[in-house]
Amino acid sequence: MDKKEDKGSRCMSKTYNIAVIPGDGTGPEVIAEGIKALNAASSKFGFKLEYTTLDFGGERYLKTGETLPDSAIDELRKFDTIYLGAIGHPDVKPGILETGILLKIRFALDQYINLRPVKLYPNVETPLKDKWPEHIDFVVIRENTGGIYTGHGGATRVGTPDEIATQLMIYDRRTVDRCLKYAFELKKKRNAMNPKYAEKPITLIHKRNVLTHAGDLWYRAFEEMGSKQYPELKRDYNHVDAANMWFVKNPEWFDVAVTENLFGDIITDLGAMIQGGLGVASGGNINPEGVSMFEPMGGSAPKYKGQNIINPMAAIGAAMMMLDTLGETKASQAIETAMIEVMKKMKSQAAGKMGYKTTEIGDMTARYIAGIKE
Ligand code: IPM
Ligand code: MN
Repeated sequence: MDKKEDKGSRCMSKTYNIAVIPGDGTGPEVIAEGIKALNAASSKFGFKLEYTTLDFGGERYLKTGETLPDSAIDELRKFDTIYLGAIGHPDVKPGILETGILLKIRFALDQYINLRPVKLYPNVETPLKDKWPEHIDFVVIRENTGGIYTGHGGATRVGTPDEIATQLMIYDRRTVDRCLKYAFELKKKRNAMNPKYAEKPITLIHKRNVLTHAGDLWYRAFEEMGSKQYPELKRDYNHVDAANMWFVKNPEWFDVAVTENLFGDIITDLGAMIQGGLGVASGGNINPEGVSMFEPMGGSAPKYKGQNIINPMAAIGAAMMMLDTLGETKASQAIETAMIEVMKKMKSQAAGKMGYKTTEIGDMTARYIAGIKE
Protein backbone atom coordinates (compact mmCIF):
# COMPACT_ATOMS: atom_id res chain seq x y z
CA MET A 1 0.00 0.00 0.00
CA ASP A 2 1.33 3.43 -0.87
CA LYS A 3 0.81 5.46 2.26
CA LYS A 4 1.53 8.83 0.69
CA GLU A 5 -1.08 8.43 -1.99
CA ASP A 6 -3.55 7.11 0.50
CA LYS A 7 -3.15 9.94 2.98
CA GLY A 8 -5.42 12.85 2.40
CA SER A 9 -7.71 11.04 0.00
CA ARG A 10 -11.32 11.40 1.03
CA CYS A 11 -12.67 8.20 -0.42
CA MET A 12 -14.71 5.93 1.84
CA SER A 13 -12.46 2.93 1.43
CA LYS A 14 -9.41 4.40 3.09
CA THR A 15 -7.74 1.56 4.96
CA TYR A 16 -5.16 1.59 7.71
CA ASN A 17 -3.15 -1.52 8.44
CA ILE A 18 -2.49 -1.87 12.14
CA ALA A 19 -0.01 -4.27 13.72
CA VAL A 20 -1.38 -5.28 17.10
CA ILE A 21 1.01 -6.58 19.75
CA PRO A 22 -1.22 -7.36 22.74
CA GLY A 23 1.79 -8.65 24.70
CA ASP A 24 1.78 -9.82 28.29
CA GLY A 25 -0.36 -9.75 31.43
CA THR A 26 -3.37 -7.50 31.05
CA GLY A 27 -2.11 -6.20 27.68
CA PRO A 28 -4.49 -8.36 25.61
CA GLU A 29 -7.50 -7.37 27.78
CA VAL A 30 -6.99 -3.63 27.44
CA ILE A 31 -6.12 -3.86 23.74
CA ALA A 32 -9.40 -5.70 23.09
CA GLU A 33 -11.31 -2.72 24.55
CA GLY A 34 -9.21 -0.23 22.60
CA ILE A 35 -10.10 -2.10 19.43
CA LYS A 36 -13.81 -1.76 20.24
CA ALA A 37 -13.30 2.01 20.35
CA LEU A 38 -11.28 1.97 17.13
CA ASN A 39 -13.93 -0.07 15.35
CA ALA A 40 -16.72 2.20 16.52
CA ALA A 41 -14.73 5.22 15.30
CA SER A 42 -13.94 3.65 11.94
CA SER A 43 -17.56 2.80 11.14
CA LYS A 44 -18.69 6.21 12.30
CA PHE A 45 -16.12 8.19 10.33
CA GLY A 46 -15.88 6.01 7.24
CA PHE A 47 -12.43 4.50 7.16
CA LYS A 48 -11.34 0.89 7.44
CA LEU A 49 -9.00 -0.72 9.91
CA GLU A 50 -7.24 -4.00 9.25
CA TYR A 51 -5.59 -5.65 12.23
CA THR A 52 -2.72 -8.13 12.20
CA THR A 53 -2.01 -9.63 15.60
CA LEU A 54 1.60 -10.47 16.43
CA ASP A 55 2.43 -12.62 19.44
CA PHE A 56 5.65 -10.98 20.67
CA GLY A 57 6.04 -10.95 24.42
CA GLY A 58 6.95 -13.02 27.44
CA GLU A 59 5.01 -16.19 26.56
CA ARG A 60 6.62 -16.46 23.17
CA TYR A 61 10.04 -15.77 24.64
CA LEU A 62 9.60 -18.52 27.23
CA LYS A 63 8.55 -20.97 24.52
CA THR A 64 11.04 -20.07 21.78
CA GLY A 65 13.82 -18.01 23.39
CA GLU A 66 13.09 -15.31 20.84
CA THR A 67 12.20 -11.71 21.70
CA LEU A 68 11.81 -9.89 18.40
CA PRO A 69 13.69 -11.22 15.38
CA ASP A 70 15.06 -8.76 12.82
CA SER A 71 12.60 -10.13 10.29
CA ALA A 72 9.79 -8.86 12.53
CA ILE A 73 11.19 -5.33 12.28
CA ASP A 74 11.01 -5.55 8.50
CA GLU A 75 7.44 -6.77 8.81
CA LEU A 76 6.49 -3.96 11.19
CA ARG A 77 7.80 -1.36 8.74
CA LYS A 78 5.01 -2.31 6.34
CA PHE A 79 2.20 -1.26 8.66
CA ASP A 80 0.64 2.17 9.01
CA THR A 81 0.90 2.02 12.76
CA ILE A 82 1.46 -0.29 15.74
CA TYR A 83 -0.82 -0.81 18.73
CA LEU A 84 0.99 -2.29 21.74
CA GLY A 85 -0.56 -3.66 24.93
CA ALA A 86 2.21 -4.33 27.42
CA ILE A 87 5.55 -6.07 27.59
CA GLY A 88 6.76 -7.70 30.82
CA HIS A 89 6.43 -11.18 32.29
CA PRO A 90 6.98 -12.27 35.93
CA ASP A 91 8.95 -15.36 34.80
CA VAL A 92 11.37 -13.44 32.60
CA LYS A 93 14.37 -11.63 34.05
CA PRO A 94 13.84 -7.84 33.96
CA GLY A 95 15.47 -6.15 30.98
CA ILE A 96 15.24 -8.95 28.42
CA LEU A 97 11.79 -8.17 27.05
CA GLU A 98 12.10 -4.42 27.61
CA THR A 99 15.27 -4.11 25.57
CA GLY A 100 14.55 -7.03 23.23
CA ILE A 101 11.07 -5.88 22.20
CA LEU A 102 9.99 -2.41 23.33
CA LEU A 103 13.28 -0.55 22.99
CA LYS A 104 14.22 -2.54 19.89
CA ILE A 105 11.07 -1.36 18.11
CA ARG A 106 11.57 2.24 19.26
CA PHE A 107 15.16 2.28 17.98
CA ALA A 108 14.77 0.21 14.81
CA LEU A 109 11.76 2.20 13.61
CA ASP A 110 13.44 5.43 14.73
CA GLN A 111 10.45 6.47 16.84
CA TYR A 112 12.31 9.48 18.12
CA ILE A 113 9.42 11.17 19.89
CA ASN A 114 7.75 9.79 22.98
CA LEU A 115 4.61 11.85 23.33
CA ARG A 116 2.98 11.66 26.73
CA PRO A 117 -0.06 13.80 27.38
CA VAL A 118 -0.66 14.68 31.03
CA LYS A 119 -4.32 15.62 31.11
CA LEU A 120 -6.65 15.39 34.06
CA TYR A 121 -10.16 14.61 32.87
CA PRO A 122 -13.34 15.56 34.77
CA ASN A 123 -14.26 13.17 37.60
CA VAL A 124 -10.77 11.64 37.59
CA GLU A 125 -9.03 11.80 40.93
CA THR A 126 -5.59 13.37 41.20
CA PRO A 127 -3.49 13.05 44.36
CA LEU A 128 -2.77 16.79 44.07
CA LYS A 129 -4.82 18.91 46.45
CA ASP A 130 -6.94 21.65 44.87
CA LYS A 131 -5.90 20.81 41.32
CA TRP A 132 -8.60 20.31 38.71
CA PRO A 133 -8.76 19.64 34.97
CA GLU A 134 -8.06 23.32 34.25
CA HIS A 135 -4.72 22.99 36.05
CA ILE A 136 -3.42 19.75 34.57
CA ASP A 137 -3.40 19.75 30.79
CA PHE A 138 -0.01 19.54 29.18
CA VAL A 139 2.16 17.23 27.09
CA VAL A 140 5.65 15.95 27.66
CA ILE A 141 7.80 15.28 24.65
CA ARG A 142 10.47 12.84 25.66
CA GLU A 143 13.32 12.29 23.21
CA ASN A 144 13.05 8.56 22.58
CA THR A 145 16.15 7.23 20.81
CA GLY A 146 19.18 8.88 22.39
CA GLY A 147 20.86 9.60 25.68
CA ILE A 148 21.62 6.91 28.21
CA TYR A 149 19.27 4.53 26.40
CA THR A 150 21.77 4.12 23.55
CA GLY A 151 23.73 1.76 25.81
CA HIS A 152 27.14 3.37 25.32
CA GLY A 153 29.50 2.57 28.13
CA GLY A 154 30.95 -0.45 29.76
CA ALA A 155 32.37 -2.02 32.83
CA THR A 156 35.88 -3.09 33.80
CA ARG A 157 37.34 -4.88 36.81
CA VAL A 158 33.88 -6.29 37.35
CA GLY A 159 33.39 -7.98 40.69
CA THR A 160 36.47 -6.41 42.24
CA PRO A 161 36.50 -3.51 44.70
CA ASP A 162 37.92 -1.41 41.84
CA GLU A 163 35.01 -2.05 39.51
CA ILE A 164 34.17 0.80 37.14
CA ALA A 165 30.96 1.19 35.16
CA THR A 166 29.94 3.91 32.74
CA GLN A 167 26.71 4.61 30.90
CA LEU A 168 26.92 7.65 28.72
CA MET A 169 24.34 10.29 27.92
CA ILE A 170 24.99 10.51 24.19
CA TYR A 171 23.44 13.28 22.11
CA ASP A 172 24.25 14.72 18.74
CA ARG A 173 22.89 17.98 17.42
CA ARG A 174 20.71 16.34 14.76
CA THR A 175 18.95 14.13 17.31
CA VAL A 176 18.34 17.11 19.57
CA ASP A 177 17.18 19.36 16.73
CA ARG A 178 14.64 16.95 15.30
CA CYS A 179 13.09 16.45 18.71
CA LEU A 180 12.96 20.20 19.38
CA LYS A 181 11.44 20.78 15.95
CA TYR A 182 8.58 18.41 16.76
CA ALA A 183 8.09 20.14 20.13
CA PHE A 184 7.99 23.66 18.69
CA GLU A 185 5.59 22.58 15.93
CA LEU A 186 3.29 20.94 18.46
CA LYS A 187 3.39 24.07 20.62
CA LYS A 188 2.41 26.17 17.60
CA LYS A 189 -0.49 23.81 16.89
CA ARG A 190 -1.71 23.84 20.50
CA ASN A 191 -1.50 27.64 20.72
CA ALA A 192 -3.75 27.88 17.67
CA MET A 193 -6.17 25.37 19.22
CA ASN A 194 -6.68 27.07 22.57
CA PRO A 195 -5.83 30.60 23.74
CA LYS A 196 -5.16 29.22 27.22
CA TYR A 197 -2.31 27.15 25.83
CA ALA A 198 -0.97 30.20 24.00
CA GLU A 199 -0.44 32.04 27.29
CA LYS A 200 2.00 29.37 28.41
CA PRO A 201 5.57 28.75 27.31
CA ILE A 202 7.24 25.77 25.76
CA THR A 203 9.56 24.48 28.48
CA LEU A 204 12.88 22.77 28.00
CA ILE A 205 13.69 20.46 30.90
CA HIS A 206 17.30 19.41 31.54
CA LYS A 207 20.02 19.73 34.14
CA ARG A 208 22.38 22.18 32.54
CA ASN A 209 23.76 23.41 35.85
CA VAL A 210 25.51 20.04 36.22
CA LEU A 211 25.38 18.41 32.77
CA THR A 212 27.40 21.24 31.30
CA HIS A 213 28.04 19.44 28.00
CA ALA A 214 24.82 17.58 27.20
CA GLY A 215 22.62 20.17 28.89
CA ASP A 216 24.39 22.98 27.11
CA LEU A 217 23.84 21.31 23.73
CA TRP A 218 20.10 21.04 24.40
CA TYR A 219 19.87 24.57 25.77
CA ARG A 220 21.70 26.23 22.88
CA ALA A 221 19.76 24.22 20.31
CA PHE A 222 16.50 25.18 22.04
CA GLU A 223 17.37 28.88 22.22
CA GLU A 224 18.62 28.99 18.67
CA MET A 225 15.65 27.24 17.11
CA GLY A 226 13.20 29.13 19.31
CA SER A 227 14.61 32.58 18.63
CA LYS A 228 15.21 32.08 14.91
CA GLN A 229 12.29 29.91 13.80
CA TYR A 230 9.61 30.43 16.46
CA PRO A 231 10.16 33.92 17.89
CA GLU A 232 6.41 34.23 18.58
CA LEU A 233 6.47 31.32 21.06
CA LYS A 234 7.29 31.96 24.72
CA ARG A 235 10.20 29.88 25.96
CA ASP A 236 11.09 28.69 29.42
CA TYR A 237 13.72 26.42 30.92
CA ASN A 238 13.56 24.25 34.08
CA HIS A 239 16.17 22.06 35.68
CA VAL A 240 14.70 18.56 35.89
CA ASP A 241 14.71 18.44 39.68
CA ALA A 242 12.82 21.72 39.84
CA ALA A 243 10.42 20.55 37.13
CA ASN A 244 9.47 17.68 39.43
CA MET A 245 8.50 20.17 42.10
CA TRP A 246 6.50 22.31 39.68
CA PHE A 247 4.64 19.30 38.24
CA VAL A 248 3.31 18.80 41.75
CA LYS A 249 2.95 22.37 42.97
CA ASN A 250 2.11 24.31 39.79
CA PRO A 251 1.22 21.91 36.97
CA GLU A 252 -0.77 24.74 35.38
CA TRP A 253 2.51 26.39 34.38
CA PHE A 254 3.11 23.72 31.74
CA ASP A 255 1.78 23.27 28.23
CA VAL A 256 4.51 21.63 26.12
CA ALA A 257 7.55 20.33 27.99
CA VAL A 258 10.43 18.83 26.03
CA THR A 259 13.28 16.82 27.48
CA GLU A 260 15.88 14.15 26.89
CA ASN A 261 15.21 10.43 27.17
CA LEU A 262 15.96 9.42 30.79
CA PHE A 263 14.67 12.62 32.34
CA GLY A 264 11.53 12.16 30.25
CA ASP A 265 11.12 8.60 31.45
CA ILE A 266 11.26 9.74 35.05
CA ILE A 267 9.08 12.83 34.89
CA THR A 268 6.37 11.14 32.82
CA ASP A 269 5.73 8.59 35.56
CA LEU A 270 5.13 11.57 37.83
CA GLY A 271 2.96 13.03 35.08
CA ALA A 272 0.95 9.81 34.91
CA MET A 273 0.27 9.97 38.64
CA ILE A 274 -0.95 13.56 38.66
CA GLN A 275 -3.33 12.85 35.78
CA GLY A 276 -4.99 10.02 37.71
CA GLY A 277 -2.63 7.08 37.56
CA LEU A 278 -1.43 4.43 35.15
CA GLY A 279 -5.01 3.42 34.38
CA VAL A 280 -5.42 6.56 32.29
CA ALA A 281 -1.91 7.40 31.02
CA SER A 282 -1.20 6.80 27.34
CA GLY A 283 1.83 7.36 25.20
CA GLY A 284 2.91 7.44 21.58
CA ASN A 285 6.30 6.40 20.23
CA ILE A 286 6.29 8.54 17.15
CA ASN A 287 8.34 8.62 13.99
CA PRO A 288 6.75 11.59 12.22
CA GLU A 289 8.10 10.32 8.91
CA GLY A 290 7.56 6.61 9.53
CA VAL A 291 5.74 3.98 11.56
CA SER A 292 4.64 4.96 15.08
CA MET A 293 3.57 2.84 18.03
CA PHE A 294 0.95 3.63 20.66
CA GLU A 295 0.69 2.08 24.10
CA PRO A 296 -0.92 2.43 27.50
CA MET A 297 1.80 3.37 29.99
CA GLY A 298 0.67 0.96 32.68
CA GLY A 299 2.68 -2.13 31.91
CA SER A 300 1.52 -5.72 32.07
CA ALA A 301 0.09 -5.67 35.65
CA PRO A 302 0.22 -9.49 35.95
CA LYS A 303 -1.64 -9.57 39.26
CA TYR A 304 -4.80 -8.25 37.58
CA LYS A 305 -4.58 -10.57 34.59
CA GLY A 306 -7.70 -12.47 33.53
CA GLN A 307 -10.05 -10.91 36.07
CA ASN A 308 -11.76 -8.34 33.86
CA ILE A 309 -10.91 -5.60 36.38
CA ILE A 310 -8.06 -3.69 34.71
CA ASN A 311 -8.79 -0.16 33.47
CA PRO A 312 -8.69 -0.05 29.66
CA MET A 313 -8.86 3.78 29.50
CA ALA A 314 -5.13 4.19 28.89
CA ALA A 315 -5.33 1.76 25.97
CA ILE A 316 -8.38 3.59 24.62
CA GLY A 317 -6.44 6.85 25.01
CA ALA A 318 -3.58 5.29 23.05
CA ALA A 319 -6.08 4.44 20.29
CA MET A 320 -7.22 8.06 20.31
CA MET A 321 -3.61 9.26 19.90
CA MET A 322 -3.09 6.74 17.11
CA LEU A 323 -6.00 8.07 15.07
CA ASP A 324 -4.85 11.64 15.62
CA THR A 325 -1.38 10.78 14.33
CA LEU A 326 -2.88 9.00 11.32
CA GLY A 327 -4.71 12.22 10.51
CA GLU A 328 -8.19 11.03 11.55
CA THR A 329 -8.69 14.04 13.78
CA LYS A 330 -12.47 13.90 14.06
CA ALA A 331 -12.49 10.22 14.91
CA SER A 332 -9.79 10.83 17.49
CA GLN A 333 -11.80 13.64 19.06
CA ALA A 334 -14.88 11.41 19.13
CA ILE A 335 -12.93 8.83 21.13
CA GLU A 336 -11.84 11.51 23.58
CA THR A 337 -15.40 12.81 23.99
CA ALA A 338 -16.63 9.28 24.64
CA MET A 339 -13.81 8.64 27.13
CA ILE A 340 -14.81 11.77 29.04
CA GLU A 341 -18.43 10.62 29.25
CA VAL A 342 -17.47 7.14 30.43
CA MET A 343 -14.96 8.43 32.97
CA LYS A 344 -17.68 10.65 34.42
CA LYS A 345 -19.63 7.47 35.22
CA MET A 346 -16.73 5.50 36.66
CA LYS A 347 -16.24 5.38 40.43
CA SER A 348 -12.46 5.34 40.18
CA GLN A 349 -9.73 4.82 37.61
CA ALA A 350 -8.00 2.18 39.74
CA ALA A 351 -8.14 -1.50 38.77
CA GLY A 352 -10.96 -3.32 40.55
CA LYS A 353 -12.55 -0.10 41.82
CA MET A 354 -14.03 1.28 38.63
CA GLY A 355 -17.63 0.25 39.29
CA TYR A 356 -17.52 -1.54 35.91
CA LYS A 357 -15.74 -4.47 34.36
CA THR A 358 -12.97 -3.93 31.83
CA THR A 359 -15.23 -5.15 29.02
CA GLU A 360 -18.12 -2.91 30.11
CA ILE A 361 -15.90 0.17 29.88
CA GLY A 362 -14.98 -0.74 26.30
CA ASP A 363 -18.61 -1.41 25.37
CA MET A 364 -19.79 1.88 26.87
CA THR A 365 -17.06 3.84 25.12
CA ALA A 366 -17.91 2.25 21.78
CA ARG A 367 -21.61 3.03 22.27
CA TYR A 368 -20.84 6.69 23.00
CA ILE A 369 -18.66 6.92 19.91
CA ALA A 370 -21.45 5.42 17.79
CA GLY A 371 -23.89 8.00 19.19
CA ILE A 372 -21.68 11.04 18.66
CA LYS A 373 -22.91 13.42 15.96
CA GLU A 374 -20.40 14.01 13.20
C1 IPM B 1 8.59 3.46 29.55
C2 IPM B 1 9.22 2.29 30.23
C3 IPM B 1 10.40 1.82 29.41
C4 IPM B 1 11.42 2.93 29.33
C5 IPM B 1 11.05 0.53 29.94
C6 IPM B 1 10.03 -0.58 30.12
C7 IPM B 1 12.20 0.08 29.07
O1 IPM B 1 9.58 2.61 31.53
O2 IPM B 1 8.07 3.30 28.43
O3 IPM B 1 8.60 4.56 30.10
O4 IPM B 1 12.28 3.07 30.21
O5 IPM B 1 11.34 3.70 28.37
MN1 MN C 1 9.09 4.62 32.11
